[in-house]
Amino acid sequence: MLGFPGGAKLHKEAAFGPGKGPIWINKIQCNGNETTLKDCPAPNWGPSFECKHSEDAGVECYLDNYRPEENTDPESSTQQTLEICGMADVIFKPSPPVAKVSGGQTAAPGSQPWTASIRVKGTTKSFHWCGAVIISDRHLLTAAHCVEDYPKGLYIVRVGDWDQDVEDVGEKEFVIQTVNFHPDFNIGAYLSNDIALLTIKRHSGRGIVFTDKVKPACLPSESTIYNPGTECTISGWGSIGQTSGGYARKLQSAKVPILKTEDCMKKQVYGPDKLTGGMFCAGFLEGGIDSCQGDSGGPMVCQTREKNELWGIISWGYGCGRPNKPGVYTRVASYIQWIKSVIEG
Ligand code: ARG
Repeated sequence: MLGFPGGAKLHKEAAFGPGKGPIWINKIQCNGNETTLKDCPAPNWGPSFECKHSEDAGVECYLDNYRPEENTDPESSTQQTLEICGMADVIFKPSPPVAKVSGGQTAAPGSQPWTASIRVKGTTKSFHWCGAVIISDRHLLTAAHCVEDYPKGLYIVRVGDWDQDVEDVGEKEFVIQTVNFHPDFNIGAYLSNDIALLTIKRHSGRGIVFTDKVKPACLPSESTIYNPGTECTISGWGSIGQTSGGYARKLQSAKVPILKTEDCMKKQVYGPDKLTGGMFCAGFLEGGIDSCQGDSGGPMVCQTREKNELWGIISWGYGCGRPNKPGVYTRVASYIQWIKSVIEG
């Protein structure tokens, strides 16, 4: 499975397009427990003339358990599969959760290619401020509260980063051209509609160039149902300690389940007044894994079939990882119309 923990789907007849050059193997019979293709029982490797490239085989591997039976609607045709958004090349392998506050683990480079950071220019160098999520070659989403403290000229958007203290290959910084706050940000409940859309300035004529380490996340459809129990991935360079100080040097990620809004509104949790329709909670009521200070504005992506969709933006929480104080996220599906209207101008 090339390190992918989910299931796989086979594609016949050159579903991803015919290859070129010699055909090295024919009639291979893998059992699924091999670590390399070379361990699969097969006739000798070498140019084979029995088949044509129009018969090339393909395998799609999945992050999460995947049941091919579900995949029968026309929406999930290869055409969608080939779209670029939401596809990560390198995958973070879940290991048992650890009981520290953020409770995540260092993400494999490229496993969260849509995760960007917002930095603030200091006198000598810039420092990490918030997370953001790439949604197109010129746009990112973040939490509105992340971009309200400084004039926009002081922020820098960095994509393709992994180790904050080292210039990673393919890492790029952009200046912000416009910040669009949601018009109802902070209206009514505190941190309501905590979402802002950033448009970056082109850099030598180009917007964000997509590579294996830099890719947009897909937007969910407006009608997405946020089923409690759905496990989604959060990521960021936010705090990993008990207290809020000390940001992570390398990108962290963790899986958290979506919670029932009803449970999150219980009085021992956040009570009925703090949560608006544009928010949802995720994490563990017993405490443990959570997003934390410095993660705000960053993504919660949920895997729907083979795509990673941006369901949440890290917004707030009381402390980090405390019992009955789960993370609260901006419900992206509620803002699709607004996002589209800002992008389309
Ligand atoms: N507001 C925080 C920030 O500005 C993010 C908090 C998320 N907190 C949590 N417990 N999930 O970075």
